[in-house]
Amino acid sequence: MTKFYVTTPIYYINDVPSLGSAYPTIIADILARWHRLRGDDVFFLTGLDENSVKTVQAAKKLGVKDIKSYADGMAEKWKSAFKNLNISNDDFIRTTEERHKKNVLKVFDAVYKKGDIYKGRYEGLYCEGCEAYYKESDLVNGCCPLHKKEPKLISEENYFFKLSKYQSALLEHIEKNPKFIEPESRRNEIRNFIKKGLEDISISRPNLEWGILLPIDKSQIIWVWFDALSNYLLPEKYWPADVHIVGKDIARFHCIIWPSMLLSAGIELPKKVYAHGFFTIAGQKMSKSLGNVIDPVYLANKYSTDALRYFLIREIVLGEDGDFSEGALKARLNNELVANYGNLFYRVTSFVEKNFGAVPEPKEFGDAEKDLQKKLVKTFDEVEKLMEEIKLTDALRVIMGLSGEANRYFQEKEPWKNIKEDRESVATTLYFATNLVKAISVLLYPFTPEKSGKALEALNVKIPKWSEAVEFTITPDHKIKAEILYKKVD
Ligand code: MSP
Repeated sequence: MTKFYVTTPIYYINDVPSLGSAYPTIIADILARWHRLRGDDVFFLTGLDENSVKTVQAAKKLGVKDIKSYADGMAEKWKSAFKNLNISNDDFIRTTEERHKKNVLKVFDAVYKKGDIYKGRYEGLYCEGCEAYYKESDLVNGCCPLHKKEPKLISEENYFFKLSKYQSALLEHIEKNPKFIEPESRRNEIRNFIKKGLEDISISRPNLEWGILLPIDKSQIIWVWFDALSNYLLPEKYWPADVHIVGKDIARFHCIIWPSMLLSAGIELPKKVYAHGFFTIAGQKMSKSLGNVIDPVYLANKYSTDALRYFLIREIVLGEDGDFSEGALKARLNNELVANYGNLFYRVTSFVEKNFGAVPEPKEFGDAEKDLQKKLVKTFDEVEKLMEEIKLTDALRVIMGLSGEANRYFQEKEPWKNIKEDRESVATTLYFATNLVKAISVLLYPFTPEKSGKALEALNVKIPKWSEAVEFTITPDHKIKAEILYKKVD
């Protein structure tokens, strides 16, 4: 059995989930569900990055003294939001857990024994929003380009990690493994950045009250990124990860620091880091610190979880930047999910139910059916390839293209007109269309699991394996029921 281990970034808990954090989680969920359909042995990990100064600040702002109880409360909120978004994670990691701390210390210990840690002094800039060290030259108008705030000037004793030592090994790894960083544009960016030269980085900070203590000097806390990245090692049996899904803002941590830590610790590298783009809200980056955050649960309740999942993947070309608007979500829901797939599904199932009571016996297929069946087989092949390449937007476009053709086929056959004089040909159309909508519902399943589940239930079949989904397994006399999957929103 092929193993597939996929991760999301682990999220800061200074706030509840935003649409920004829902995005990578939905991408990872779609991949996990697709690999499960394929019969792979899947492990899907998501969770929370709790050992940040941002946690302490957020708790204090609310007047909560016990930071752990603040974190526990937030963890419940995140879990519940992910449930609402139908996220099928196999585990949920919190960096305040013992099992996580064990892995951080394991990595630190190995890196330390390798001789890659030394004490030094850091004098420079630190952005608490990013939890990252900045150079003057990285700033825009003196501010962190992401958080639009002036970073803090700090001067402190730190322990450093010899990142520079891994520059050439890392470059070599990237050259030899063109699929290690995707999409390609991101890979080029990272490669160019490394070529400019890597400097050693601080991996501990003094005088913090919250986080994992540095074992070799208890006056220091392990830097939150060194801590957080190690979360991915949790399911030992599944390591190395097949893909880390991350946003482009945190690509450097995942494509430079994390693999260097692993090279130093003598641990195998992940197979791939996939860094998606950012979506903006009316042209502006959405961020907690900018105050234009959209609540994904609100959208899911209003339009359905599946419409939201569908929209995010269909509208924003995966890997690129895009803009989010509720109007565009509504348009995709009404024009595609309702008018295309949902309409087809309802017409086929209700026509069968009303006029035949069960799936009718077909005659021989005509050219229209034969052509469409060929397209169906081709679509499965194409979608399989696109899903393997994480081209989710393209996969969805191809699936909806097939659904559109199926809709046209049904329209042209006009079974409602022919039912009286040519019941036999209508029977063929319905048998064919029922099996077709089953296959399309399976194709859509990773993207819209709830509605596809409902669709397959109405068709009275279990979710088939990917390899069997293309087959016409719904046979004559099989009972199905009419189902309205999506409703138009005005
Ligand atoms: N805690 C770190 C990640 C540690 S992983 C070892 C972190 N957390 S975060 O909560 O700030 O962000 C998590 C993810 O949300 C990032 O991958 C980021 O790219 C993503 N997004 C936040 N806003 C986003 C958009 N507006 N658009 C797309 N993704 C966005 O960083």
